[in-house]
Amino acid sequence: MTVSEIVDRRGNNRENLLQILHDIQDSSGDNSIHRDAIEELAKIMDITVADITGTLSFYTMFSTKPRGRHIIRLCESPPCYIMGSENILDALQKKLGVKLGETTPDKKFTLEPSSCLGTCGVAPAMMIDDEVYGNLNAKKVSEIIDSISKSGGN
Ligand code: FES
Repeated sequence: MTVSEIVDRRGNNRENLLQILHDIQDSSGDNSIHRDAIEELAKIMDITVADITGTLSFYTMFSTKPRGRHIIRLCESPPCYIMGSENILDALQKKLGVKLGETTPDKKFTLEPSSCLGTCGVAPAMMIDDEVYGNLNAKKVSEIIDSISKSGGN
């Protein structure tokens, strides 16, 4: 879907900017918002590029750098940290062969830090795309990654 189709669908209104940016990111093919899309959007919505980049830098769910098909957000806030999020980070890094902030060579996963996901009751927790996974341990992390990898999919 093109930027202009997305704006038409959501409505060319500043109030819809976040949703429009989400849609642009989702349809980018690499989970990011490209510079040319930002410039086109600024023109279509009659707002400045700085306005858009300011919004993008405020929200951690947006990226202007290419990312993997699946975004893993590991919670690093205190309740998860106390419950062992560092061990989960180790397990994820070993399983994926990447460090925090990196994307796997097959472009399947990007590993990112996150603040509280709002599911502290099941700490340590992480989110992959739109799904939250809690009460994590190294074995569970490995199984989750295997199952997403096998699903082959989106
Ligand atoms: S602190 Fe990790 S989910 Fe709240």
